[in-house]
Amino acid sequence: MTKQPFGKTAAGETADLYTLANSSGMEVSITTYGGAVTSLKTPDRTGRIADVVLGFNAVEDYLKVSFYPGALVGRYANRIANGRFVLNGVEYKLARNNGANSLHGGIRGFDKAVWAAREPPGGDALELTYVSRDGEEGYPGELRVKVVYTLNHDSELRIDYSAETDNDTVLNLTNHSYFNLTGEGSGDILDHVAILNADRFTPVDAGLIPTGELRHVEGTPFDFRRPTAIGARIGQAEEQLERGCGYDHNFVVNGQMGTLRDAARVRDPKSGRVVEALTTEPGVQLYTGNFLDGTAVGKSGKPYGRRSGFCLETQRFPDSPNQPDFPSSVLRAGQKFTSTTVYRFSAS
Ligand code: GLA
Repeated sequence: MTKQPFGKTAAGETADLYTLANSSGMEVSITTYGGAVTSLKTPDRTGRIADVVLGFNAVEDYLKVSFYPGALVGRYANRIANGRFVLNGVEYKLARNNGANSLHGGIRGFDKAVWAAREPPGGDALELTYVSRDGEEGYPGELRVKVVYTLNHDSELRIDYSAETDNDTVLNLTNHSYFNLTGEGSGDILDHVAILNADRFTPVDAGLIPTGELRHVEGTPFDFRRPTAIGARIGQAEEQLERGCGYDHNFVVNGQMGTLRDAARVRDPKSGRVVEALTTEPGVQLYTGNFLDGTAVGKSGKPYGRRSGFCLETQRFPDSPNQPDFPSSVLRAGQKFTSTTVYRFSAS
Protein backbone atom coordinates (compact mmCIF):
# COMPACT_ATOMS: atom_id res chain seq x y z
CA MET A 1 0.00 0.00 0.00
CA THR A 2 1.27 3.47 -0.85
CA LYS A 3 0.35 6.79 0.79
CA GLN A 4 0.39 10.29 -0.71
CA PRO A 5 -0.95 13.70 0.31
CA PHE A 6 -4.35 14.51 -1.25
CA GLY A 7 -4.96 18.15 -0.26
CA LYS A 8 -6.74 20.13 2.42
CA THR A 9 -10.32 20.78 3.51
CA ALA A 10 -11.72 24.31 3.92
CA ALA A 11 -10.95 23.99 7.66
CA GLY A 12 -7.31 23.20 6.85
CA GLU A 13 -7.40 19.49 7.71
CA THR A 14 -5.04 17.46 5.55
CA ALA A 15 -6.20 14.35 3.73
CA ASP A 16 -4.20 11.43 2.38
CA LEU A 17 -4.61 9.02 -0.49
CA TYR A 18 -3.91 5.31 -0.05
CA THR A 19 -3.50 2.92 -2.96
CA LEU A 20 -3.97 -0.85 -2.84
CA ALA A 21 -2.96 -3.15 -5.70
CA ASN A 22 -3.44 -6.86 -6.43
CA SER A 23 -1.78 -9.46 -8.65
CA SER A 24 -4.49 -9.32 -11.34
CA GLY A 25 -3.74 -5.74 -12.32
CA MET A 26 -6.33 -4.00 -10.17
CA GLU A 27 -5.52 -0.84 -8.27
CA VAL A 28 -7.83 1.04 -5.89
CA SER A 29 -7.20 4.46 -4.37
CA ILE A 30 -9.05 5.71 -1.31
CA THR A 31 -8.81 9.09 0.35
CA THR A 32 -9.26 9.77 4.03
CA TYR A 33 -11.57 12.65 2.97
CA GLY A 34 -14.99 11.02 3.20
CA GLY A 35 -13.33 7.62 2.92
CA ALA A 36 -13.96 8.00 -0.80
CA VAL A 37 -12.83 5.58 -3.48
CA THR A 38 -11.21 8.03 -5.92
CA SER A 39 -10.00 5.58 -8.55
CA LEU A 40 -10.45 1.90 -9.40
CA LYS A 41 -8.41 0.50 -12.24
CA THR A 42 -9.29 -2.87 -13.69
CA PRO A 43 -8.60 -4.77 -16.94
CA ASP A 44 -11.07 -5.34 -19.79
CA ARG A 45 -11.39 -8.62 -21.70
CA THR A 46 -8.14 -7.92 -23.59
CA GLY A 47 -6.22 -6.85 -20.47
CA ARG A 48 -6.52 -3.12 -21.12
CA ILE A 49 -6.77 -1.17 -17.88
CA ALA A 50 -9.30 1.62 -17.33
CA ASP A 51 -10.35 3.63 -14.32
CA VAL A 52 -14.01 2.69 -13.82
CA VAL A 53 -15.15 5.11 -11.09
CA LEU A 54 -15.93 8.83 -11.24
CA GLY A 55 -13.64 10.93 -9.08
CA PHE A 56 -11.17 13.77 -8.73
CA ASN A 57 -7.47 14.39 -8.15
CA ALA A 58 -7.56 16.32 -4.87
CA VAL A 59 -9.76 17.17 -1.88
CA GLU A 60 -10.23 20.70 -3.23
CA ASP A 61 -12.15 19.26 -6.21
CA TYR A 62 -14.36 17.15 -3.94
CA LEU A 63 -15.28 20.25 -1.93
CA LYS A 64 -16.86 21.77 -5.07
CA VAL A 65 -19.30 18.95 -5.84
CA SER A 66 -22.33 17.57 -4.03
CA PHE A 67 -22.94 14.19 -5.67
CA TYR A 68 -20.98 12.05 -3.15
CA PRO A 69 -18.61 10.43 -5.66
CA GLY A 70 -17.06 7.29 -4.13
CA ALA A 71 -17.82 8.45 -0.60
CA LEU A 72 -18.72 6.63 2.57
CA VAL A 73 -22.19 7.90 3.44
CA GLY A 74 -23.70 8.17 6.92
CA ARG A 75 -24.92 8.47 9.59
CA TYR A 76 -28.03 7.67 7.59
CA ALA A 77 -27.51 7.03 3.88
CA ASN A 78 -30.44 7.98 1.63
CA ARG A 79 -33.48 9.95 2.75
CA ILE A 80 -35.30 10.45 6.05
CA ALA A 81 -38.73 12.04 5.50
CA ASN A 82 -39.11 15.59 6.78
CA GLY A 83 -35.74 15.29 8.52
CA ARG A 84 -37.29 13.78 11.64
CA PHE A 85 -37.83 10.50 13.43
CA VAL A 86 -38.91 9.24 16.84
CA LEU A 87 -36.77 6.83 18.83
CA ASN A 88 -37.60 5.63 22.36
CA GLY A 89 -40.41 8.23 22.45
CA VAL A 90 -38.11 11.16 21.72
CA GLU A 91 -38.34 13.17 18.51
CA TYR A 92 -35.04 13.92 16.78
CA LYS A 93 -34.76 16.72 14.22
CA LEU A 94 -32.18 16.47 11.48
CA ALA A 95 -30.77 18.94 9.01
CA ARG A 96 -33.05 19.16 5.93
CA ASN A 97 -30.75 19.30 2.95
CA ASN A 98 -32.96 17.78 0.23
CA GLY A 99 -36.21 19.73 0.03
CA ALA A 100 -38.09 18.87 3.21
CA ASN A 101 -36.03 15.71 3.69
CA SER A 102 -32.66 14.82 5.13
CA LEU A 103 -30.32 13.15 2.61
CA HIS A 104 -27.11 11.20 3.19
CA GLY A 105 -26.49 12.23 6.78
CA GLY A 106 -27.31 15.93 6.50
CA ILE A 107 -25.24 19.01 5.76
CA ARG A 108 -21.97 17.57 7.01
CA GLY A 109 -22.33 13.84 6.65
CA PHE A 110 -19.60 11.22 6.95
CA ASP A 111 -18.64 11.96 3.33
CA LYS A 112 -17.28 15.33 4.47
CA ALA A 113 -15.28 14.07 7.46
CA VAL A 114 -11.57 13.32 7.42
CA TRP A 115 -11.28 9.72 8.63
CA ALA A 116 -8.34 8.35 10.62
CA ALA A 117 -6.40 5.71 8.67
CA ARG A 118 -4.45 2.65 9.73
CA GLU A 119 -2.86 -0.14 7.73
CA PRO A 120 -3.82 -3.49 9.27
CA PRO A 121 -1.17 -6.24 9.01
CA GLY A 122 -1.19 -8.02 5.63
CA GLY A 123 -0.85 -4.99 3.35
CA ASP A 124 -4.03 -5.63 1.37
CA ALA A 125 -6.39 -3.46 3.43
CA LEU A 126 -7.03 0.05 4.68
CA GLU A 127 -8.85 0.65 7.95
CA LEU A 128 -10.70 3.95 8.40
CA THR A 129 -12.31 5.14 11.60
CA TYR A 130 -14.53 8.07 12.46
CA VAL A 131 -16.15 9.18 15.69
CA SER A 132 -19.48 10.90 15.10
CA ARG A 133 -20.25 12.96 18.17
CA ASP A 134 -23.52 12.76 20.10
CA GLY A 135 -25.94 15.19 18.43
CA GLU A 136 -23.97 15.49 15.18
CA GLU A 137 -26.42 16.56 12.42
CA GLY A 138 -29.18 15.87 14.97
CA TYR A 139 -28.49 12.16 15.56
CA PRO A 140 -28.38 10.78 19.12
CA GLY A 141 -25.42 8.88 20.56
CA GLU A 142 -21.68 9.05 20.05
CA LEU A 143 -21.09 6.60 17.23
CA ARG A 144 -17.72 4.96 16.58
CA VAL A 145 -17.54 3.76 12.99
CA LYS A 146 -14.93 1.54 11.40
CA VAL A 147 -14.70 0.74 7.70
CA VAL A 148 -12.15 -1.70 6.30
CA TYR A 149 -11.51 -1.71 2.56
CA THR A 150 -9.77 -4.89 1.36
CA LEU A 151 -8.57 -5.60 -2.18
CA ASN A 152 -8.01 -9.33 -2.62
CA HIS A 153 -6.49 -11.47 -5.38
CA ASP A 154 -9.94 -12.52 -6.62
CA SER A 155 -10.47 -8.94 -7.84
CA GLU A 156 -12.86 -8.12 -5.05
CA LEU A 157 -13.03 -4.82 -3.26
CA ARG A 158 -14.55 -5.77 0.06
CA ILE A 159 -16.02 -3.19 2.43
CA ASP A 160 -16.57 -4.23 6.05
CA TYR A 161 -18.49 -1.72 8.14
CA SER A 162 -18.82 -1.87 11.91
CA ALA A 163 -20.11 0.57 14.50
CA GLU A 164 -20.92 1.01 18.16
CA THR A 165 -22.88 3.71 19.94
CA ASP A 166 -23.17 4.88 23.55
CA ASN A 167 -26.86 5.73 23.12
CA ASP A 168 -29.56 4.23 20.88
CA THR A 169 -29.44 5.67 17.38
CA VAL A 170 -30.30 4.96 13.74
CA LEU A 171 -27.67 3.98 11.23
CA ASN A 172 -27.38 3.27 7.51
CA LEU A 173 -23.92 3.11 5.93
CA THR A 174 -23.10 2.81 2.25
CA ASN A 175 -20.53 3.56 -0.40
CA HIS A 176 -21.55 5.98 -3.16
CA SER A 177 -19.18 4.96 -5.98
CA TYR A 178 -20.31 5.82 -9.50
CA PHE A 179 -19.21 3.12 -11.92
CA ASN A 180 -18.68 3.46 -15.64
CA LEU A 181 -17.22 0.18 -16.85
CA THR A 182 -16.06 1.63 -20.17
CA GLY A 183 -13.99 4.09 -18.17
CA GLU A 184 -14.78 7.29 -16.27
CA GLY A 185 -15.59 10.19 -18.55
CA SER A 186 -16.44 7.96 -21.53
CA GLY A 187 -20.10 8.96 -21.84
CA ASP A 188 -23.28 7.49 -20.41
CA ILE A 189 -23.87 4.02 -19.00
CA LEU A 190 -27.20 3.36 -20.72
CA ASP A 191 -25.84 0.41 -22.74
CA HIS A 192 -24.52 -1.36 -19.63
CA VAL A 193 -26.52 -4.52 -19.02
CA ALA A 194 -27.78 -5.08 -15.48
CA ILE A 195 -29.15 -7.97 -13.48
CA LEU A 196 -30.65 -7.23 -10.08
CA ASN A 197 -31.41 -10.05 -7.69
CA ALA A 198 -34.63 -8.39 -6.58
CA ASP A 199 -38.26 -9.44 -6.99
CA ARG A 200 -39.47 -6.26 -5.31
CA PHE A 201 -38.59 -2.58 -4.98
CA THR A 202 -39.74 0.25 -2.74
CA PRO A 203 -41.80 2.76 -4.79
CA VAL A 204 -41.43 6.40 -3.78
CA ASP A 205 -43.53 9.55 -3.49
CA ALA A 206 -42.68 12.80 -5.28
CA GLY A 207 -39.96 13.58 -2.70
CA LEU A 208 -38.35 10.14 -3.29
CA ILE A 209 -39.53 8.84 0.09
CA PRO A 210 -40.76 5.21 0.04
CA THR A 211 -44.52 4.88 0.31
CA GLY A 212 -44.08 1.76 2.45
CA GLU A 213 -45.18 -0.60 -0.32
CA LEU A 214 -42.92 -3.44 -1.46
CA ARG A 215 -43.97 -3.67 -5.11
CA HIS A 216 -43.32 -6.71 -7.26
CA VAL A 217 -41.15 -5.86 -10.28
CA GLU A 218 -43.09 -8.13 -12.69
CA GLY A 219 -44.31 -6.13 -15.68
CA THR A 220 -42.53 -2.92 -14.60
CA PRO A 221 -39.35 -1.19 -15.85
CA PHE A 222 -37.85 -2.24 -12.50
CA ASP A 223 -37.67 -5.89 -13.53
CA PHE A 224 -33.94 -6.58 -13.92
CA ARG A 225 -34.21 -10.26 -13.08
CA ARG A 226 -33.01 -11.03 -16.61
CA PRO A 227 -30.10 -9.12 -18.18
CA THR A 228 -31.46 -5.78 -19.46
CA ALA A 229 -29.71 -2.63 -20.66
CA ILE A 230 -29.99 0.13 -18.07
CA GLY A 231 -31.24 2.45 -20.82
CA ALA A 232 -33.78 0.06 -22.36
CA ARG A 233 -36.75 1.38 -20.38
CA ILE A 234 -35.34 4.40 -18.51
CA GLY A 235 -37.26 6.90 -20.66
CA GLN A 236 -40.65 5.22 -20.35
CA ALA A 237 -43.61 7.32 -19.28
CA GLU A 238 -43.95 5.57 -15.95
CA GLU A 239 -44.69 7.34 -12.69
CA GLN A 240 -41.79 5.87 -10.66
CA LEU A 241 -39.21 6.56 -13.37
CA GLU A 242 -40.55 10.09 -13.76
CA ARG A 243 -40.27 10.70 -10.01
CA GLY A 244 -36.66 9.53 -9.98
CA CYS A 245 -35.81 11.21 -13.31
CA GLY A 246 -34.65 7.69 -14.15
CA TYR A 247 -33.58 4.97 -11.72
CA ASP A 248 -33.09 6.28 -8.19
CA HIS A 249 -34.78 3.47 -6.32
CA ASN A 250 -34.16 0.94 -3.59
CA PHE A 251 -34.48 -2.71 -4.58
CA VAL A 252 -35.25 -5.42 -2.04
CA VAL A 253 -32.39 -7.89 -2.38
CA ASN A 254 -33.71 -11.46 -2.49
CA GLY A 255 -32.52 -13.81 0.23
CA GLN A 256 -31.70 -13.41 3.86
CA MET A 257 -30.51 -10.05 5.16
CA GLY A 258 -27.32 -10.61 7.18
CA THR A 259 -25.94 -13.19 4.74
CA LEU A 260 -23.62 -12.13 1.94
CA ARG A 261 -25.55 -12.73 -1.30
CA ASP A 262 -25.76 -11.42 -4.87
CA ALA A 263 -27.45 -8.08 -5.24
CA ALA A 264 -26.46 -6.95 -8.72
CA ARG A 265 -24.33 -7.70 -11.76
CA VAL A 266 -23.63 -5.09 -14.43
CA ARG A 267 -21.69 -5.73 -17.64
CA ASP A 268 -20.39 -3.29 -20.22
CA PRO A 269 -20.73 -4.96 -23.64
CA LYS A 270 -17.99 -2.75 -25.16
CA SER A 271 -15.14 -3.67 -22.79
CA GLY A 272 -16.61 -6.85 -21.33
CA ARG A 273 -15.95 -5.52 -17.83
CA VAL A 274 -18.33 -6.74 -15.14
CA VAL A 275 -19.02 -5.56 -11.62
CA GLU A 276 -20.99 -7.73 -9.23
CA ALA A 277 -22.25 -6.39 -5.93
CA LEU A 278 -22.80 -8.72 -2.99
CA THR A 279 -24.13 -7.55 0.32
CA THR A 280 -25.43 -8.48 3.74
CA GLU A 281 -27.80 -5.48 3.58
CA PRO A 282 -31.52 -5.80 2.79
CA GLY A 283 -31.49 -3.25 -0.05
CA VAL A 284 -29.56 -1.76 -2.93
CA GLN A 285 -30.23 1.66 -4.46
CA LEU A 286 -29.74 1.73 -8.21
CA TYR A 287 -29.01 5.37 -8.99
CA THR A 288 -28.25 6.14 -12.62
CA GLY A 289 -26.61 9.55 -12.17
CA ASN A 290 -29.74 11.37 -13.34
CA PHE A 291 -28.68 14.62 -11.68
CA LEU A 292 -25.16 14.76 -13.11
CA ASP A 293 -25.15 17.62 -15.61
CA GLY A 294 -21.65 17.90 -17.03
CA THR A 295 -20.59 20.86 -14.89
CA ALA A 296 -18.17 18.70 -12.90
CA VAL A 297 -14.99 17.87 -14.81
CA GLY A 298 -13.39 14.65 -13.64
CA LYS A 299 -9.84 13.59 -12.83
CA SER A 300 -8.82 13.12 -16.47
CA GLY A 301 -10.36 16.36 -17.71
CA LYS A 302 -13.63 14.95 -19.03
CA PRO A 303 -17.03 16.30 -17.95
CA TYR A 304 -19.37 14.04 -16.00
CA GLY A 305 -22.61 14.33 -17.95
CA ARG A 306 -26.07 13.00 -17.20
CA ARG A 307 -26.02 9.26 -16.49
CA SER A 308 -22.27 8.96 -16.94
CA GLY A 309 -22.09 6.62 -13.95
CA PHE A 310 -24.33 4.31 -11.94
CA CYS A 311 -24.32 3.59 -8.21
CA LEU A 312 -25.15 0.37 -6.41
CA GLU A 313 -25.65 1.71 -2.90
CA THR A 314 -26.15 -1.28 -0.62
CA GLN A 315 -28.20 -0.21 2.35
CA ARG A 316 -31.12 -0.34 4.77
CA PHE A 317 -34.25 0.85 3.02
CA PRO A 318 -34.63 4.63 2.78
CA ASP A 319 -36.59 6.30 5.60
CA SER A 320 -36.54 3.13 7.72
CA PRO A 321 -36.61 5.16 10.97
CA ASN A 322 -40.18 6.22 9.99
CA GLN A 323 -41.30 2.93 8.44
CA PRO A 324 -42.16 0.35 11.10
CA ASP A 325 -42.57 -2.43 8.50
CA PHE A 326 -39.07 -2.03 7.03
CA PRO A 327 -36.06 -3.89 8.48
CA SER A 328 -34.90 -1.91 11.49
CA SER A 329 -32.09 0.63 11.21
CA VAL A 330 -31.87 1.10 14.98
CA LEU A 331 -28.55 0.42 16.69
CA ARG A 332 -28.87 0.03 20.45
CA ALA A 333 -26.21 1.08 22.92
CA GLY A 334 -24.00 -1.91 23.64
CA GLN A 335 -24.81 -3.69 20.35
CA LYS A 336 -22.33 -3.98 17.53
CA PHE A 337 -23.38 -3.14 13.97
CA THR A 338 -21.70 -5.09 11.17
CA SER A 339 -22.30 -5.03 7.45
CA THR A 340 -20.35 -6.22 4.41
CA THR A 341 -20.47 -5.32 0.74
CA VAL A 342 -18.25 -6.77 -1.98
CA TYR A 343 -17.72 -5.29 -5.44
CA ARG A 344 -16.24 -8.07 -7.60
CA PHE A 345 -14.66 -7.26 -10.97
CA SER A 346 -14.10 -9.46 -13.99
CA ALA A 347 -14.19 -9.26 -17.79
CA SER A 348 -15.71 -11.58 -20.36
C1 GLA B 1 -28.44 9.33 -3.95
C2 GLA B 1 -29.83 9.81 -4.09
C3 GLA B 1 -29.97 10.60 -5.33
C4 GLA B 1 -28.97 11.72 -5.37
C5 GLA B 1 -27.58 11.17 -5.18
C6 GLA B 1 -26.56 12.26 -5.05
O1 GLA B 1 -28.16 8.25 -4.72
O2 GLA B 1 -30.76 8.76 -4.03
O3 GLA B 1 -31.28 11.09 -5.42
O4 GLA B 1 -29.26 12.62 -4.36
O5 GLA B 1 -27.51 10.38 -4.05
O6 GLA B 1 -26.58 13.16 -6.11
